Amino acid sequence: MMSLVRPELSGIKPYVPGKPIDEVKRELGLETVVKLASNENPYKVPDAVLEAAKRALSEMHRYPDAASYHLVRAIAKKLGVSPDEVIVGNGSEYIIDTLMKVFVSPGDEVVYAVPSFVVYRIAASVMGAKRVEVPCKDYRHDLEAMAEAITDKTKLVFVCNPNNPTGTIVRRDELDQFFASVEGKRLLVVMDEAYFEYAKDPNYPDGLQYFRRYGNVVVLRTFSKIYGLAGLRIGYGIAPKEIVSIYNTIREVFAVNVVAQAAALAALKEDAYVSWVSMKVYEEKKKLYEALSKMGLPYVESEANFVLIKVRDSKLAFEEMLKRGVVVRPTDSFDLPNHIRVTVGTPEENEVFLKALKELLPLLR
Ligand SMILES: Cc1ncc(COP(=O)(O)O)c(C=O)c1O
Repeated sequence: MMSLVRPELSGIKPYVPGKPIDEVKRELGLETVVKLASNENPYKVPDAVLEAAKRALSEMHRYPDAASYHLVRAIAKKLGVSPDEVIVGNGSEYIIDTLMKVFVSPGDEVVYAVPSFVVYRIAASVMGAKRVEVPCKDYRHDLEAMAEAITDKTKLVFVCNPNNPTGTIVRRDELDQFFASVEGKRLLVVMDEAYFEYAKDPNYPDGLQYFRRYGNVVVLRTFSKIYGLAGLRIGYGIAPKEIVSIYNTIREVFAVNVVAQAAALAALKEDAYVSWVSMKVYEEKKKLYEALSKMGLPYVESEANFVLIKVRDSKLAFEEMLKRGVVVRPTDSFDLPNHIRVTVGTPEENEVFLKALKELLPLLR
């Protein structure tokens, strides 16, 4: 049977998701587990969002609106773009996958940084693309090297900003220079801004400005992170009209379910909640930095809701943390050994994490 499988699919390393809480409880017989492995928002969603989702459940016997009419218009209004410049999908991961389908034929090149979001690699591999992986420099995208890696065969360039798993950003001046150097080239730049709302650095660029300035930019955002809707699966993007049109032609017809559409529509009104979560995470991140510095563990300053920490043995760190009821993410599957990525949780969750970390310090430092 395996001989029938497309040869492009052989050797693709699978995505390793954060270990689910229930699985950890089952396997280790633990009653409480703190999951800091998937960069989720640890706080409850606002009541209005929950109520909207509950109301939508009563419509579950109907197919969703394939065009996500109201949601698309609400996103467009909020971001000051036209509704025919908005795409939505079953998570921004789905949009990444579909963009690959739209643009990449076997042999075309896809450029991205390493370590960065692993889905670029998997989705490019599925299309039989040549993967052009440009190493990060000091945990940051090396945009100069990425621009140099572009050839006539390059179709897509992914810029993950803030980057997962490092939490670092590309600054406005760097991005300006990058766009100046690729201007006029026949390729699409995908700005993956899944953690956009968490970034506080004044030099953090808004991908939308580049979308407006250049004709070949797609900006991806998501409801999974700061809006707290990871479990519902809904992401969105801003793209040139022609791309929106082809995306909508080839995507799954019902790419966003009834509940996700309703919850996202309600979530868009929750500006105060978004600011509150962003500030809370920022404050908690500072406390984590302080504790890590005291422990003498090197970490990377992050503009997102997670922190990358250098450890002696990431597998050991992961397993020992797990035994203490804390799920973190070893970054080996991102091609970054000797590091763990830890999501900023609630103050209580972060305390549990720091307590476990302290106990394990002799093994980790
Ligand atoms: C950089 C980045 N992009 C995209 C995603 C996918 O998000 P979703 O599919 O939940 O919208 C993630 C999730 O971890 C991410 O880290």
